[in-house]
Amino acid sequence: MSEPAIAPKRVRVHHLRQMKAAGQPIAMLTAYDALTAAIFDEAGIDVLLVGDSMGDNLMGYATTLPVTVEELLPHVRAVADRGGRPLVVADLPFGSYEVSPEQAVTTAVRFLKEGRAHAVKFEGGARVLPQVRAVTGAGIAFMGHLGYTPQSVHSLGGPRVQGRGDAGDRLLADALALQEAGAFAIVLEVVPAPLAQRVSEALEIPTIGIGAGAGCDGQVLVWTDVAGLTPRMPKLAKAYADVRGALLGAAREYAAEVRARAFPAEEHTHPE
Ligand code: KIV
Repeated sequence: MSEPAIAPKRVRVHHLRQMKAAGQPIAMLTAYDALTAAIFDEAGIDVLLVGDSMGDNLMGYATTLPVTVEELLPHVRAVADRGGRPLVVADLPFGSYEVSPEQAVTTAVRFLKEGRAHAVKFEGGARVLPQVRAVTGAGIAFMGHLGYTPQSVHSLGGPRVQGRGDAGDRLLADALALQEAGAFAIVLEVVPAPLAQRVSEALEIPTIGIGAGAGCDGQVLVWTDVAGLTPRMPKLAKAYADVRGALLGAAREYAAEVRARAFPAEEHTHPE
């Protein structure tokens, strides 16, 4: 596989815009710990999102709604502190930015100061514009998130395609408003592919799709889906490995060896 044309030692927000201009797709994955962050860095992933998807993918919550700032912060720090090439984006959990622009700036500052993230993301369009302006005005790099926004799962009536019909024009208007307010990129989640392409073509900043087709400037997936760890794979995702199967096999073999007293063997044992 050939090296991408834009391959900075450290990915920064302006590189993402350069990638869009050069037609070089951006590869983004979630990461919640230092171990996987190191693997994804080695694999050449451009952006790591410490998403609140940690709630429903790692913590066993039914939705992302219960995730708190205190819960997510150590994970952001674990990913960001190992350094490396990817841009690290921290997700602002539900309830940590909606109240006011001041609340959004305060939370974003915590994720940069205590979490050492390079940028923050939060969900919404027109309804959070004052927050976006305040955050970018404070000099904080901001990534938008439109379409299906999981923190609004109940008000949206469940995980459903967004932006069909007239709603497509509203989503485009939201995307342009976020760009105007200083966003450096926008995640488009579960929107019809033609709409995602239209939005991508209308924006100067890159779009990162998840369930939004191939017309976006980049793609993001939840890493546990990519690894094949998720028992019920969402339609938008693809498993590139069977880590669940490998782990199940390893755990079964370990249990069998313990029960048969085959582990530990001589080489795992300290002599006198
Ligand atoms: O929390 C998350 O992982 C996300 C992605 C699905 C975009 O917001």
